[in-house]
Amino acid sequence: MDAVHESAPLDDAAVRRIRNDFPVLSQQMAGRDLIYLDSGATSQNPISVMEAEQEFYEQRNAAVHRGAHSLAAEATDAFEDARTTVAGFVGAGEDELFWTSNATAGLNLLAYSFSNASVGTVSAEAARFALGPGDEVVVTEMEHHANLIPWQELCRRTGATLKFIPVDDDGALRLEEAAVLIGPRTKVLAFTHASNVLGIINPVAVLVALAREVGALVVLDACQSAPHLPLDVKALDVDFAVFSGHKMLAPTGIGAVYGRAELLNAMPPFLTGGSMITTVTMEAAEYLPSPARFEAGTQPVSQAVALASAVDYLRETGMDRVHAWESTLGQRLVAGLSAIDGIRVLGPKPGVERTGLAAFHVEGVHAHDVGQYLDAQGIAVRVGHHCAQPLHRRLGLTASTRASTYLYNTTDEVDALLEAVAEIRPYFRVGTGKEQ
Ligand code: ALA
Repeated sequence: MDAVHESAPLDDAAVRRIRNDFPVLSQQMAGRDLIYLDSGATSQNPISVMEAEQEFYEQRNAAVHRGAHSLAAEATDAFEDARTTVAGFVGAGEDELFWTSNATAGLNLLAYSFSNASVGTVSAEAARFALGPGDEVVVTEMEHHANLIPWQELCRRTGATLKFIPVDDDGALRLEEAAVLIGPRTKVLAFTHASNVLGIINPVAVLVALAREVGALVVLDACQSAPHLPLDVKALDVDFAVFSGHKMLAPTGIGAVYGRAELLNAMPPFLTGGSMITTVTMEAAEYLPSPARFEAGTQPVSQAVALASAVDYLRETGMDRVHAWESTLGQRLVAGLSAIDGIRVLGPKPGVERTGLAAFHVEGVHAHDVGQYLDAQGIAVRVGHHCAQPLHRRLGLTASTRASTYLYNTTDEVDALLEAVAEIRPYFRVGTGKEQ
């Protein structure tokens, strides 16, 4: 783990040392060195993360917050230490972060908690989450389905109305329309920090200011930002934020929700059961404060330990360095792709800030054929609508190809992708007058 302890900006030499920590990257695919450009979908785990999870099972595995025995106490300490680490990584207090299985589960949990506040008799504190006819939830046109459908369903259950901030042809939010849409009826504003398709980083401060003016709750989908940028939920002043472990060097099955403490302690829980209660009678139950309030049942303990180890790895590398390196890769991707005939890059133009990913359309070739062609060269990308059908529809497409980088990708890998993409239209004889 030498490269992670350096402080100079990341470069290819440092990244090659980082790659030694990721065994999966050293394999051959289709007879060539694997080029993994699909970290936007799921990232790879360094050895230290896999060892942390294994060490937990070898040394400390037991039920947390339940047993009186010493092993249970050790497991509970490991679990709570993990919370402290991950909460600190995003600037949250320890009582302000609870575990979920991933960001999708976190967003659904929030939407269901809000609807639990919308039915029957609820406390005065819980009433602030209630929605009904006449109320509005505002999202954006660039959301992936996990930050869209839960809000559609919340509106269906409560009679509230869903509105969305449209995007322009480059995918940027039309902020002048946001200022009109976000009004006195807006109860919730939910938006992505960084788009999984466009690479755009949204202006959180502008959107939060609009929400604050009308007293709306702000939910930030941070699943494409927490892994890639320095993230401070307090500085961003959002009410809730969600992210997934598997996109930030950790295993699947673990994600987290941040919520401001006073909100979490007033919000009705979604999942109920063991470990989240104080007193239970046959008629009713009283709930613990956050975070236990939202952690019913046995938790993903080893995964939380592994996520904390991933956070240690990212922190030791330095999120500023990670962000700067991925910006370099993102700009190289978008500049290179834009220079190839018949390639349309989605999102900001070269030179405009973006994360380290680029989705593109190869004129005349279906994205699945593009993906297969690249796979045959040992290059792993994602193809399809990337769980963002409305955005693709807005951009006049049904599918695209996405290359998404992380701290372990080199400029050589980006260049190899660019060379392979340049061969695709000639290979399929598109644009040559000799189409197959
Ligand atoms: N996880 C989805 C992605 O690959 C949404 O971007």
